[in-house]
Amino acid sequence: MAEISNTIKHVASPLARQTLQDSDLTRPVAGVRPIRLLPWLHVVKIGGRSIMDRGADAILPIVDELRKLLPEHRLLILTGPGIRARHLYSVGLDLGLPVGSLASLAASEAGQNGHILASLLAPEGVSYVDHPTIASQLAIHLSAARAVVGSAFPPYHHHEFPTSRIPTHRADTGAFLLADALGAAGLTIVEDVDGVYSVDPKGPEANQAHLIREANATDFVKHEGTLPFDRALLEVMATARHLEYVQIVNGLVPGRLTAALRGEHVGTIIHSNKHTS
Ligand SMILES: Nc1ncnc2c1ncn2[C@@H]1O[C@H](COP(=O)(O)OP(=O)(O)OP(=O)(O)O)[C@@H](O)[C@H]1O
Ligand SMILES: [Mg+2]
Repeated sequence: MAEISNTIKHVASPLARQTLQDSDLTRPVAGVRPIRLLPWLHVVKIGGRSIMDRGADAILPIVDELRKLLPEHRLLILTGPGIRARHLYSVGLDLGLPVGSLASLAASEAGQNGHILASLLAPEGVSYVDHPTIASQLAIHLSAARAVVGSAFPPYHHHEFPTSRIPTHRADTGAFLLADALGAAGLTIVEDVDGVYSVDPKGPEANQAHLIREANATDFVKHEGTLPFDRALLEVMATARHLEYVQIVNGLVPGRLTAALRGEHVGTIIHSNKHTS
C-alpha cells in the first residue's frame, strides 16, 4: 500500500514542483498553442433584440438563409436573450437580486430564443443543445446534423464577476469564448444594423453616424459611446487563441450572412489581438 501511494505521489509532471503563478516557469509547458478542436465549424450569433424580438418578419428570412447554408457549412448557431433579459434585469435590479442571479435568468432567456430557432430548423435535423452537451458532445451532434443551436450566453451564472450589477459577460462574449475555445473557422454576429457605427445609427445623433468598416478590438476599447455588443467581448478578443476577427453583419438584409460565411467583407470586421502561442 505504501509503495502504491509513493508511486502516485511521484508522478512525473513538469508542473508538479512549481507554483502556477510564475509564468517564467509555466511558459515552457503552458505556452504551447492549443489545437483547433473543430476547425471547420462556423459560429453564428443571432441577436436576441435585433433579430429574435422582431418575430416572424426577421426570423423567417434568417431561418431560410441558415437552411440554405447548411450544405455549405457546419454551424453552431447561438442566440442572444433580447428584450426579455432587459425586462428581467430591471425587475431583478429593483428587487436587489445579485448579479449572479440575473446572469442565470438572462441565460435562460437566450436559451428560449435558441429553442425557437431550433424548432424552425428541426426539419433539417437541427436541435437545441445545452452548454454541457456543447462542451462534451458537440462533435457527435455535428456529425449527425449540419448545425446545432445553443445559447450564446456564457454559463458564468452565480460565478459572474460582481464588477457591475448587470452581468458583464453576455451573449457576444459567450459566443466568442466558445468559438475561440473550439478553434472554429469564424464567428459572425448578426444584428439589425450594417455593422458598428461611430454613434448609434438609431439614436438621437443618427445623422452623424458613419459605418466603421474595419477596426481592431483595441480601437473600440477607447470608444466612448454605445456599441452593438457587450464590452467584455473586447477583453476576450485581446486574449484570443484562434479567432483572428469577428464580423458584425445586418441580418435584415438577405444574403449578408451568407456572404460573411463565404469570407466576404459585408459588415464591420473587428480584428482580435490573436496570441501566437
Ligand atoms: N455604435 C453603434 N453601432 C451600431 N449599432 C449600435 C451602436 N450603438 C448602439 N447600437 C444599437 O445596438 C442595437 C443592437 O442592440 P443589441 O446589440 O443590444 O442587440 P442584440 O445583439 O440583438 O441583443 P442580444 O444581446 O440580446 O443578442 C442596434 O440596433 C443599434 O441601434
Ligand atoms: Mg448586439
